[in-house]
This record gives sequence, structure tokens and C-alpha cells, in this order.
Amino acid sequence: AALTVTTAGGLVAGAPGQAAPPALGRLVPAAAPQPGGPGLGDSYFPDYGNGGYDVQHYDVRLRYDPATDLLTGTTTILARATEDLSRFNLDFLLDVESVRVDGWQATATREGVHELAVTPRRAITAGRQLTIVVRYSGVPSETLVGGYTGWTRTADGAMVVNEPESAWWWYPSNDHPQDKATFDVSVSVPTGVEVISNGVQPRPPLAEAGNRTRWSWRTTSPTATYLSFLAIGQYDIVTDTAPNGQPVVNAYSAGLGELGPAARASIGRTAEVVEWCSGIFGPYPFEAQGGVAGPVDGIGFALETQTRPVYGPGFWRRGANTYVVVHEQAHQWFGNSVSLADWSDIWLNEGFASYAEWLWSEEQGEGTAQELFDFTYASYPADAGFWQVPPGAPGPGRIFDAAVYDRGAMTVHQLRLAIGDEAFFALLPAWTAAHRHGNATTAQFQALAERISGLDLDDFFTTWLLTPGRPDVPGAARKAG
Ligand code: ARG
Ligand code: ZN
Repeated sequence: AALTVTTAGGLVAGAPGQAAPPALGRLVPAAAPQPGGPGLGDSYFPDYGNGGYDVQHYDVRLRYDPATDLLTGTTTILARATEDLSRFNLDFLLDVESVRVDGWQATATREGVHELAVTPRRAITAGRQLTIVVRYSGVPSETLVGGYTGWTRTADGAMVVNEPESAWWWYPSNDHPQDKATFDVSVSVPTGVEVISNGVQPRPPLAEAGNRTRWSWRTTSPTATYLSFLAIGQYDIVTDTAPNGQPVVNAYSAGLGELGPAARASIGRTAEVVEWCSGIFGPYPFEAQGGVAGPVDGIGFALETQTRPVYGPGFWRRGANTYVVVHEQAHQWFGNSVSLADWSDIWLNEGFASYAEWLWSEEQGEGTAQELFDFTYASYPADAGFWQVPPGAPGPGRIFDAAVYDRGAMTVHQLRLAIGDEAFFALLPAWTAAHRHGNATTAQFQALAERISGLDLDDFFTTWLLTPGRPDVPGAARKAG
């Protein structure tokens, strides 16, 4: 083994039978580089993300053909090794043609469903800067995991919008919110097709050979992989400048028909909603704003994709709906800037985004937060299955359970009552400032709430977040009957 000098406290791999090393400046065999872990140890999705490196930037350069759903591309990943690595994993599903690490051809083998193990020619030293180039192709709508694909093909194109995983279907990544990065995304499509993604357009769509156009989008704030997206198809793109001077890019699917006006009346208020949120949650964390109204044959939900949420058509069926816009915009603070460190903490995203809707309702004079609490509490009978799902530990199959949203919002409201409005409305911007562009846990939230209020909130959070059964609330309980 190679000999290397380590300092006291350093990692020492002693060979068997070797004399105990001296305390300082000792000569010991270097630990052999190990494979990076296949996951980041998330308690719900242990194999999501990978160990041993930290991504700073993804450059995703694609070519897409709506007629065949064939996606080909090259993704360049700029990363830093955090350990000595003999190899490392990427999370990805499509067919890989080649992988290069710092210009050298590497070996790539598929392991399990979404793991791509990359072995470079030479081991990687901790701290080293890496350039990983992956060339690939595939038909993502036919690339199924457990019968499912997060890539939705539509009559006029496709969209990739999903949580907790979506990158697998279009670029190789370290697929966990613990590893946020910036993005350049460009997609070549037949001229006449629009492509929308996160952030801003660093250049206008540029003509390419073969009657094609390449669209470019850039994100300069740290972004979790599940919050990057593509919407490809026939879109009307409407640009504006927000009150804070930022670019607003809204896009409306051309095929929305009678739903179109309601979509525009809702998403068109994005900048106003962002301004209102900023007054309560603190400064807007990102560089651009907007929203995308997806087509009638696209996704059936909404997702807070960073800077530019995507909305399914169902939200416009009963007319304009600013509540869903408020919900997705609140996520820009709760989930996107302050991201969970473990998927079991999903209530930190959904509870606060749902509570933002109650605050908006109060602001609109359409029902106070207290009235919405009472209504929600009473709408689930004490023996309903709803109360058996603790929002602070819903289980991996229930991260989007109604309890995460509704009991999550009820938890936030009860916290407000417990600590008072002054502490509560100081806590919200303090939380988003303390963990801006980072990751945070429920324990950290409780600690900050306790520090600002001066109260011991252990029993409170245990009851509301972790204990099955309907918590007692004097007054509301009476209304519930
Ligand atoms: N975070 C999204 C929202 O609350 C929910 C996404 C649900 N995911 C899904 N694949 N259906 O708006
Ligand atoms: Zn949500």
C-alpha cells in the first residue's frame, strides 16, 4: 500500500499485523478509495441520490422529437468529490452511450432500477473537481419503473414534472434535495414547438439545421433535481416584469379551450401573489417568476417547479383559482429554498404551502384561517382514517396523503395559536432566512419556534405531527360533534 502522512484524528486504515501508529505525523497505509454510496440514506428513499460527490451545475443539452418521443442528449455535470472514490453512482434510466470523467472514457454499468455505476480510469481524490459527461438516448414515456413514468407524452409534445423523482427520465443526476445545483437546459425541437423550463432564457430560441430550433433556459439559484422540469408543445408564452423588477414568464398550453381564460386569470396573478408572499415569508428567493398551464392531456396535479410551477388543467374547471397559485408560490420558500433534508419531513413543504392558502383566504375576506381550521378539523370525523396518518411520519407511500396537507396546515395554525401572532409572523421569515437555499429538518423548525416563542413545544409537535388520532382542540372539537 502507498504510504501517506496523516494528521492526528485523520481516517486511518491500519493493515492487520502492523504496529500501532504513533500519535502524530505517523506513517500509515493510505485508505484505498471506496465506491461512493448508491444512495444518501434518506429514511423513505434510501437509494435516491448518491454518496461521495456534490454537484454544482448541470448542463443538460437535448434533442427531442415529439413524433417519436425519442430523446437524445448530453449532460455535463460539474461536481466536487467529497470522498476518495474508486467509483460513484448516478441516478438515471435512459440508455447510456458513453461516460467521460475529466475527458477520460469511464465504464458505466447499470445496477438496480435507476443506478448507473461509473468507474473512472483512475480513482478520484477527495476534494477534486470533476467534469462528468454522459451521452444518452431513450424513449422516456416507455421507460417504466413499477409501471410508471414521470415523463408524460402529450398530443403536441411532452412534459416531465414529478415528485419525488423526475430527473431519471431526462438527465443523469444526484437525485436528492440534499444536493442542489444550478442548471443550463437546452432542447432542440422542430421549429414551431415551444420549450419551457426553469429560470430565464440566456439567449432567444436559435434556429438550427433541419428546420429545428434550440431553446435555452438557465437557473442561477440552487435547485433540487425534482424541481427542474420541461414542458414541450404548443404554448403561448407571455412575458412581463414583476413589481420587484424580475422577469415573469408565463406559458399557456394552446389546447386549453374554454379553460384558457381561467388559467390566465389565475397564473396571470403570479407576480401579485409572489409580492404578497414576500410580505409574510421574506424576500423571494429566486431570479425569475412565472407559471405554466399544462395541456388537457398532461399532468393531473400541480408542482412547484422552481421559479415556474406547472399546473394541470383540472385546477381551472370551476373558474379562476388563485389558491393553487398561492400554494405553489408558497413552496418557493417552503420546499424550494428551504428544502427538506429527508423525505419524511414532507409536511414542512405541504403543511406550509397549504397554510398559505388559509392566509390568502383571510386576506381575500373569504374565510379566516381559524374558520378554515374549524371547517377542516370538523370535516374529518374522529374515527376517520385521516387521523391515523401522522403528517410528521406519513410513510414513504403516503407522502402526499391528505393528512400531510390538511393536518400539516392545522399544525401550523395551532402553532400560531400556541405562540401568538407576533412570534408566529416573526418565525416564518426567520425560518426562510436561516435556511435560505439550504436544507432543514422538523427538529430545526421546532428549535427555532421554541427560541422565538420562549416556549417548550415538544408535546405540541409530538401530538400534532407524530401521534395517530385526532388531537383535542377545545371549541373546534365541540363543533366537530
Ligand atoms: N408538491 C405538489 C403540490 O403540493 C404535489 C405533487 C404530487 N405529486 C404527484 N406526482 N402527484 O402541489
Ligand atoms: Zn404542495
